[in-house]
Amino acid sequence: MRKQLIVGNWKMNGSLSSIKSLCESLNQLPLKKIDAHIALCVPDIFFLYVSENIKNIDLGIQNVSQYSNGPYTGETSATMARDLNCQYVIVGHSERRNLFGESSYDASLKAKKAIESGLCPIICIGETLDQRFSNEFRGVLKKQLHTILNKLSIKQLKETIIAYEPIWAIGTGVSASPTQIQEAHFYIRSLITKFDVLLAKSIKIIYGGSLKPKNSGKILKLPDVDGGLVGNASLSSRDFYGIIENVKA
Ligand code: PGA
Repeated sequence: MRKQLIVGNWKMNGSLSSIKSLCESLNQLPLKKIDAHIALCVPDIFFLYVSENIKNIDLGIQNVSQYSNGPYTGETSATMARDLNCQYVIVGHSERRNLFGESSYDASLKAKKAIESGLCPIICIGETLDQRFSNEFRGVLKKQLHTILNKLSIKQLKETIIAYEPIWAIGTGVSASPTQIQEAHFYIRSLITKFDVLLAKSIKIIYGGSLKPKNSGKILKLPDVDGGLVGNASLSSRDFYGIIENVKA
């Protein structure tokens, strides 16, 4: 069975003092009794602080350079992150795609670099509201996924997590419905089956987009959903735990 993974994405939020109190309240949670992987992707600048002050939660960052080390002002390399015991990195998030012009090809280069350095990339794919309404979403997901699958070896893909994040559900308070989510996850898994049957069975496909304690009970129990990528709700230890509690038993 695929063990579920719940990842919080703090995005560009928090101050040293708010993060200090968030870490303190996260440390009070009975996470040891939860049978799932729990991780937080934090702003790079707070990474060291969080890693020294958090218990029972793995850590990641929210973006990584496609390059190795060198003259790339403002970038963080995968080897730097790994040096600090970082385990995960989000790549191809729709905010990176829409606000910073990143493509699926860029995401595939970043994922490759991450894996080569020992990080596990969480690769985000998802459609816009227009693409959903015009029923183009399957084609969009296929194109995004194929760019990534074609760039990585099967061995590398085994170190990868896919996040289905419909753009229209991110930060809007309206998640996709359980039917829409299961349909998309099943479709993504069937695309991966064409590459490698065993990989399709083992790869984690997690859902992101307005996941909350209230809707996560149904969503996390869907057969092809292996966890969640949580934005807003991960900024509150209560809400984050409310989602974690709903993982498949
Ligand atoms: P949200 O963000 O939970 O706030 O919708 C999800 C994400 O961006 O990964």
